[in-house]
Amino acid sequence: MHFSLLEKFGAAALICAWLLFGVNFLGNMLVHVEEHVSQLPGAEASGGAATASAEPAKPEADFATLLASADPAAGEKLFGKCKACHAIDPAGGNKVGPNLHNVVGRPVGTHEGFAYSDTLKNKGGEWTYDHLNHFLESPKAYAPGTKMSFAGLSSAKDRAEVIAYLRANTESPPPLPEPTAKAEEPAPAEGKASSAEEKGAGEPASGEQAGAAATAGAAGAAGAAVTGADVDKMVAAADPAEGEKVFRKCQACHNADKGGPNKVGPHLYDVVGRPKASVADFNYSPALKGLSGEWTDEALFQYLENPKSFAPGTKMTFAGLSKPEDRAAVISYLRAHSDNPPPLQQ
Ligand code: HEC
Ligand code: HEC
Repeated sequence: MHFSLLEKFGAAALICAWLLFGVNFLGNMLVHVEEHVSQLPGAEASGGAATASAEPAKPEADFATLLASADPAAGEKLFGKCKACHAIDPAGGNKVGPNLHNVVGRPVGTHEGFAYSDTLKNKGGEWTYDHLNHFLESPKAYAPGTKMSFAGLSSAKDRAEVIAYLRANTESPPPLPEPTAKAEEPAPAEGKASSAEEKGAGEPASGEQAGAAATAGAAGAAGAAVTGADVDKMVAAADPAEGEKVFRKCQACHNADKGGPNKVGPHLYDVVGRPKASVADFNYSPALKGLSGEWTDEALFQYLENPKSFAPGTKMTFAGLSKPEDRAAVISYLRAHSDNPPPLQQ
């Protein structure tokens, strides 16, 4: 009796493992194919859909999706709630709470010189994204007896943003959990340029593309189909002031002023026309170092749409700008912060 139950569990677990492995493998294969065949939206969407249907949406999976698109700059604002008790600057020391520089991936309850409660001291493990998520939702529920007298952040989006900010202030953060189902996000009813790529569910780009929107949609859908001249037309039409707004999403990690420092990412002054991965004192990922050529408008346009598919393995943990208008605007802003950007092709 006892054994047969165990056996059943064992068999079920094995089947689950194989199913998950298979789906994952299939998904990865599709993504790889997609990378080589220059980002066909159908391939990616069906990879995501397959994962989604085999793995009924778990809360963690949703959180991974939130985290992938969370804006560290918004997290910086939310961090205002933590500042009374936590410094995040490495030189800031401990306050009422421990210093949070490099906290992502750090073993729980171990910052030097801080007197933790027994509950955190004895918790074990590391501050994974998942643990941070649960702790910040309700410190008391996650770690009964904790000294952190903070009610918690009830909004998952807020938690994702704060964690993105903690991550941006961690020198070698662990990789983000894989978001499962991009295709599950409600499709924004824009009917605009970005509709083709955001629709998901494997639908081929459909009838609503016309005129300029078709150009832009194609830019998202199949990078190869868009020429540098198409991108340059969008960039020429874009407003650098809009681009400055978009650049707020980058600021937690990048500085674009002349003589500015590297942050989590390399400084971006003069990036347009600069050889890829060429800031001497920045430690790039092998993925980015492996790229050749310069950052043309076109290359930036593709990288910024989806850093991970343009340069698989890149350290830039930024989900990407899905709207072609936003990419064109931020490129025009970066051009305005470059000494000699290559002339716009017309
Ligand atoms: C009222 C003060 C206070 C506020 C506000 C506060 N914390 Fe804390 N925090 C603490 C204390 C005290 C500890 C140590 C808890 C313990 O030892 O049980 C702590 C511990 C932590 C830890 C564990 C760090 C480690 O080294 O293991 C994290 C992560 C953390 N806080 C994040 C945050 C974030 C993010 C916010 C804002 C959303 C925040 N805290 C708001 C006081 C605070
Ligand atoms: C969470 C931090 C983060 C955010 C947000 C972010 N980046 Fe990055 N970025 C990085 C990192 C890290 C690298 C280095 C990537 C590597 O080595 O793989 C990078 C690299 C780059 C590069 C390549 C530069 C070079 O010298 O080759 C460009 C261009 C870039 N980012 C632009 C942007 C823009 C524009 C935005 C906003 C729309 C943005 N990034 C948002 C972290 C970030």
